[in-house]
Amino acid sequence: MAIVLIEKTRFKQLNSIRRKVAAMSGCDAKEVRIVVSPYRICPLGAHIDHQGGTVSAMTIDKGIILGFVPSSDCQVLLQSGQFKGEVKFRVDEEQLPGNASKSNNSGGVKNSSVALEECGWGNYARGAIYALQKRGNHLKQGIVGFIRGDEGLDSSGLSSSAAVGVAYLLAFESANNLKISPTENIEYDRLIENEYLGLRNGILDQSAILLSSYGCLTCMDCKSQAFVEIALPVQTKEHRLISSPDLNRNLNVIKKQFKILLAFSGLKQALTTNPGYNSRVAECRDAARILLQASGIEGLEPILSNVEPEVYEEHKSKLDATLLRRAEHYFSENKRVLKGLEAWASGNLEDFGKLISASGLSSIQNYESGCEPLIQLYEILVKAPGVFGARFSGAGFRGCCIAFVDADRALEAASFTRKEYTKVQPKLASQIDQDKMVLICDAGDCACVI
Ligand code: GLA
Repeated sequence: MAIVLIEKTRFKQLNSIRRKVAAMSGCDAKEVRIVVSPYRICPLGAHIDHQGGTVSAMTIDKGIILGFVPSSDCQVLLQSGQFKGEVKFRVDEEQLPGNASKSNNSGGVKNSSVALEECGWGNYARGAIYALQKRGNHLKQGIVGFIRGDEGLDSSGLSSSAAVGVAYLLAFESANNLKISPTENIEYDRLIENEYLGLRNGILDQSAILLSSYGCLTCMDCKSQAFVEIALPVQTKEHRLISSPDLNRNLNVIKKQFKILLAFSGLKQALTTNPGYNSRVAECRDAARILLQASGIEGLEPILSNVEPEVYEEHKSKLDATLLRRAEHYFSENKRVLKGLEAWASGNLEDFGKLISASGLSSIQNYESGCEPLIQLYEILVKAPGVFGARFSGAGFRGCCIAFVDADRALEAASFTRKEYTKVQPKLASQIDQDKMVLICDAGDCACVI
């Protein structure tokens, strides 16, 4: 059950979205439903979800808000707080993947129904309809909606795309009285991203968004889709364990244990327009294919989770240098995830953090997914006061780095990072609002309709 903690600014935002939707639809603001869909972070388990590895994830207290009312017919009408143009289509129109890529490639001005739609932002809503239709849900009810994300956090590697996809799925399902489980929605969001948008990513992002609960690390086996939630022991600074029946008290104690830093590089690019992600996935599959062949195993999908670690050790000499690095990332990251879960479960944030930084290093050296500004940001964060560990957020081709930091030293760490990054990347740093270059966040909850 989602715990919805709404602070004052959030409350104001929600009310302004309610008013906006009321004006668009002619309904009363009280009838407006709200989907909250948080951004996610992946402390350990980067880039192994698409290979069926085990990942860890949690959400943060920032994300997407979608206000909507069911429309009186099949019509969908959407506006965005970030992007220009209106999105209009019908839920009974057939949605086909080809239309999405055309919108992406030419900046969103496609055909009459998407005229004026900046950079194809409506594709996620169409993709949600595609996924629902593909799994046999025939929708009758459209929505009138207004969507907005936390300012400056889109395309930053916090998985705004999955948060948006999940938000639309929940809204269409709510408007059509469909009862869909989180596991089904994980699959529906996979259809949006893999099939409708053409990104060959795994299920990490939407699993985190749909399954997380406050104060827990979600651990997901991306092959079997089994997941567990591991609670951080609620303890005081002196490591005294507290077990209070008062949920709010527990949450407040956890907030005092650690904070999450989001440090922005100033680089932004959508993953769907960067070839690096899909080419790394293809390299992992090539490595798996060679290892499976070398060990005489036939008939299995060429993904690295189908290769036993012993088989990798025995046959890794058959891989060229690049494929060897990709496979090394996979096998070492899986081990780090398992160790990290133990550290988290025992409340050892220092060890947990060291593993995150080691994972960051493997992303740089083995997965080769960073770029100079992001690597500099990672190196600065690792040295920042009070930081337990840091790494790129998400795919690491653009966007931001995350760090787990001692709550008492979060401000100090943020100002250190801001200062040092401005020294090494003055131009990029000048493009980011100084107050927003490093944000201090808390963990969050799962996506829900409130
Ligand atoms: C992106 C993808 C995920 C995952 C991460 C890297 O966020 O969407 O599936 O691969 O990168 O861990």
